[in-house]
Amino acid sequence: MAAAPDLSPFLAACRGEEPSRAPIWFQRQAGRSLPEYRAARGTGSILEAIAQPEVAAEVTLQPVRRYGVDAAVLFSDIVVPVHAIGFGIDVVPGRGPVADRPFSSAADLDRLRPLEPEVDIPYVIETVRILAAELDPAVTPLLGFAGAPFTVASYLVEGGPSRTFAKVKALMHAEPDLWAQLVDRLADMAIAFTSAQVAAGAQAVQLFDSWAGSLSPKEYQRFALPATQKVFAALGDLGVPRILFGVGTGELLSLMATSGADVIGIDWRVPLDVAATRVTGLPVQGNLDPAIVLAGTELALGEARDVLRRGSAAPGHIFNLGHGVLPETDPAVLEAIVTMVHEEGLSLRAEGMHT
Ligand code: CP3
Repeated sequence: MAAAPDLSPFLAACRGEEPSRAPIWFQRQAGRSLPEYRAARGTGSILEAIAQPEVAAEVTLQPVRRYGVDAAVLFSDIVVPVHAIGFGIDVVPGRGPVADRPFSSAADLDRLRPLEPEVDIPYVIETVRILAAELDPAVTPLLGFAGAPFTVASYLVEGGPSRTFAKVKALMHAEPDLWAQLVDRLADMAIAFTSAQVAAGAQAVQLFDSWAGSLSPKEYQRFALPATQKVFAALGDLGVPRILFGVGTGELLSLMATSGADVIGIDWRVPLDVAATRVTGLPVQGNLDPAIVLAGTELALGEARDVLRRGSAAPGHIFNLGHGVLPETDPAVLEAIVTMVHEEGLSLRAEGMHT
């Protein structure tokens, strides 16, 4: 591994180069676990907070200030593009994205026109500009993101969060051509959304395919992977690291490694040394169980050390949780984890390499 002293630790690890310290950030690091978030956010839909650049930038910076994490993740949401073009979707507190009229037939394609970032989401571009001016890119890069086509489609088709994904699976199998058109439009939207963020100053992008784990490998390969590959191929020329994350993806990891992503996010179900063999050659991100953070500092630190040792099996490792921070999380435990990862991360990685 080549040393990369001039690159931020996060970007160095994304490229499989040697970071100056072990990088860490937390998925959903901004949000309800932070009292300063609850104060800044106000009431109403989260989409209203996201549409106010000063608020969105402040909320993005809160966890950077509090925890000293190695990446700032843009405060936005995966449904922002479809909301902005008027599909008719909102985010209900405590529930998640809900669509009044779910996507069910070819006629609904008319409700999914292309995203024009300057017209539809000027507030996201403005938020990114504010953040790019505030953050030191050599220390804390800004991570932009979008929802992967399958996961966004699942909300549009189900009309809300789902346990079984029955409607979305019925649609993809029964009407594969319509499905292909749906995810292709969502791929174009993710491309426009993330490209606009990079143009305004984001230094890496992550695609959240949070619910991909509901698919079998065969389904993932046929119905989800091609649209994700389209997104990553289009982002290739931008030269920023591309991260792909999903939950429950143990059986999908080798396919995800063919998506064009530079880094694969791993949930807590697969030990990182095992995950590394499934995504051969790619750096990994993850994978402390967010629930273990609730079990107390010492326990969480012990498990986090194990994650760091196992992560050494991959050519790069960005420490993270296996999914998002739970709202009931005590921020003090996350603070202790950041301190430990920064102080001990590189030596635990070296230790892992020799066992
Ligand atoms: O810190 C960060 O990670 C940045 C901000 C961020 C949000 N949503 C803000 C948010 C990110 C990266 C997302 C992505 C997102 N949104 C995903 C992918 C990540 C994941 O968790 O798997 C998904 C599936 C969504 C859809 C969504 N939005 C859900 C399921 C919810 C939770 C509903 C609830 O209230 O329990 C939201 C709302 C949401 N998005 C919140 C935040 C901070 C919390 C609620 C609020 O403050 O109103």
